[in-house]
Amino acid sequence: MKTAVFSARRYDQSLLASANQTAGHELRFIQDRLTAETAALAAGCPAVCVFVNDSGDAQVLSILSSQGTRLVATRSTGYNHIDASAAARLGIEVVRVTDYSPYSVAEFAVGLLLAVNRKIARASVRTREGNFELEGLMGMDLHGKTVGVIGTGKIGLIFARIMAGFGCRLVGHDPYPSAEFESIGGRYLGVEDLMSQADVVSLHCPLTDATRYIVNAATLAVLKRGSILVNTSRGGLVDTEAAIQALKTGALGGLALDVYEQEASLFFQDLSSTVITDDVIQRLVSFPNVIVTGHQAFFTVEAIGQIMQTTIDSLTAFERGEVLVNRIPAG
Ligand code: NAI
Repeated sequence: MKTAVFSARRYDQSLLASANQTAGHELRFIQDRLTAETAALAAGCPAVCVFVNDSGDAQVLSILSSQGTRLVATRSTGYNHIDASAAARLGIEVVRVTDYSPYSVAEFAVGLLLAVNRKIARASVRTREGNFELEGLMGMDLHGKTVGVIGTGKIGLIFARIMAGFGCRLVGHDPYPSAEFESIGGRYLGVEDLMSQADVVSLHCPLTDATRYIVNAATLAVLKRGSILVNTSRGGLVDTEAAIQALKTGALGGLALDVYEQEASLFFQDLSSTVITDDVIQRLVSFPNVIVTGHQAFFTVEAIGQIMQTTIDSLTAFERGEVLVNRIPAG
């Protein structure tokens, strides 16, 4: 089936092509992001394959629909970039990848936490320059600390298990409590109670109307002073300006971000030779106690292999008129 693959980096192209060897779909690789301006590149393709910073808003979906697209397959778990109600209205099916290594993201969240707490990235930069000073590199033991997990689904639960292994106390927040989280000693609390008790808060919930800015000026105001915030979920969960204010006052002791509210125009590209005009990200990376990575938590051999295979399988199921097991919930 003719499929336009947007945001197709070199690794997307080679791994998707190799997952497609048996299925034989006709893949049209497009490096650009899917937007209203680039949607025409998918003309004549019944299927469109996208990633997290492609736009699947009502306008884009309507252009795709008028060009004959009937399936949008996102190479991600999160689908907040696709307007599910507009897709349903236009008769476009939307599939995602629900089941790929949740360990990839959970392990990366732990890595970010260790890096920001123990200043590992700073230390590495220093030693490369021959500076072996310890001044400014002090962290805290995680053992015995309270870790707050917002969203105790697949990734949050694995993150919680790893932190339990560190000897941390676990508190969680989720409208659908998990018995497994409680079985490893986790206690559920409201967001504000969690923020006021936790030394570390890690976000693992999807971005929805209910969770947008779940970390904001009000919740940061009750944060236990000096706590560390880790976000590997979606940028829109954090009001970045409020987080910057909290960093300035020391209310927030450290911040580790793999996702950023305005990442669409920055991430997945080499902008090192250009002038970055986003002052917020520039301010963020200027703090010594902030680490920003460019949405790479999912980026392991295991996870990518599964993402590509599931995507190809969804294309095949759609072409054959079979049940779409990875269809997103109705909008
Ligand atoms: P999941 O669906 O297994 O778990 C999400 C959990 O969040 C569920 O338990 C759900 O009940 C909970 N939740 C929903 N609304 C909530 C609210 N208002 N407050 C607190 N919790 C709430 O999803 P999974 O696989 O664990 O993924 C979580 C998120 O991680 C995805 O939505 C995606 O945004 C992000 N992600 C990031 C990646 C990266 O590379 N940085 C890669 C993959 C996922």
